[in-house]
Amino acid sequence: MNQPVKQPELIGTSKNRLETFYDDVIEGLQSVPKRLNSKYFYDANGDKLFQELMECPEYYPTKCELEIFSEKTADLAASIIADGDAFDLIELGAGDAMKSTWLLQYLLKQKIDFTYLPIDISDNVINYLTVKLPLSLPGLQVTGLNGEYFEMLNKAASLSGRRKVVMFLGSNIGNMPANEAVDFSRELRNHLAPGDMVIIGFDLKKSPKTILAAYNDKGGITKKFNLNLLERINRELNADFDLSQFDHYPTYDPESGACKSYLVSLKDQVVNIDGRENIRFIKDEYIYMEISQKFTIMQTDQMAENTGFRPVGRFFDSKKWFVDTIWVAE
Ligand code: AVI
Repeated sequence: MNQPVKQPELIGTSKNRLETFYDDVIEGLQSVPKRLNSKYFYDANGDKLFQELMECPEYYPTKCELEIFSEKTADLAASIIADGDAFDLIELGAGDAMKSTWLLQYLLKQKIDFTYLPIDISDNVINYLTVKLPLSLPGLQVTGLNGEYFEMLNKAASLSGRRKVVMFLGSNIGNMPANEAVDFSRELRNHLAPGDMVIIGFDLKKSPKTILAAYNDKGGITKKFNLNLLERINRELNADFDLSQFDHYPTYDPESGACKSYLVSLKDQVVNIDGRENIRFIKDEYIYMEISQKFTIMQTDQMAENTGFRPVGRFFDSKKWFVDTIWVAE
């Protein structure tokens, strides 16, 4: 007889989310220079645009990391299975879990005892993963955690005392300014116990032209992806951004490895938010939207060592454009 289908568990924190969004937007747009936080890119439409982006020819990071997860699955799995004890496999910013699915499938086939805990700020993503993943991967234990990473890591720790392996893929770490990435890594370490592991995906420095093209695709999807945040502010915070009056401007500095994107105001204009705040733009004034930092291997090792981890493994794609590093908490 078939096992009864277990309802996937969904844990969420939706209280005050809109107020926090409003406060962050106002604080960012009242700063000099103006900025918005790219974590807000990912509403339902932003998720869809990011999916499109990952398929567009210029955007290489996802393809590189997918190659690593699909072709080096057994080696990746071997490095996290360790002694074979049961563990929790946590994924921060799980998205569609396309890459990790390769690992999950392999671990299931090997009859490894583990639970998959995807953490994502997007409730769309978590709803999708908790319902759909067990259908395509029978036997997979999934506990979806909808919210901020560290809050949800605390929740994960309270749910089980098993060894943790935390995946942070896609070079999401590159979307933090350098000092924040170090703070993040340290805080991640503080949420783990000695012997726990992390798998972190880093996009590596390479031809500046290749990098810039990835953030300036000919199809204009990256532009739409950035403008979508203004549309989200219009819809959710009752604002009146005229999207046609902002242009997308991406840059890459090969020296620092910082790839940044901006939205530039095409004219003097005033944007009203929720009838409460007027935000003035002068022509050519920009909003700093996102950083996508590129790394050297040495920088990734240093980050590990400076934040309480020991780098123990590296998995590259065939072009060596991207690396998934394995760190052990000391
Ligand atoms: C999610 N993150 C790693 C992407 C990146 O490459 O920085 C987001 C992105 N922004 C523009 N294109 C893709």
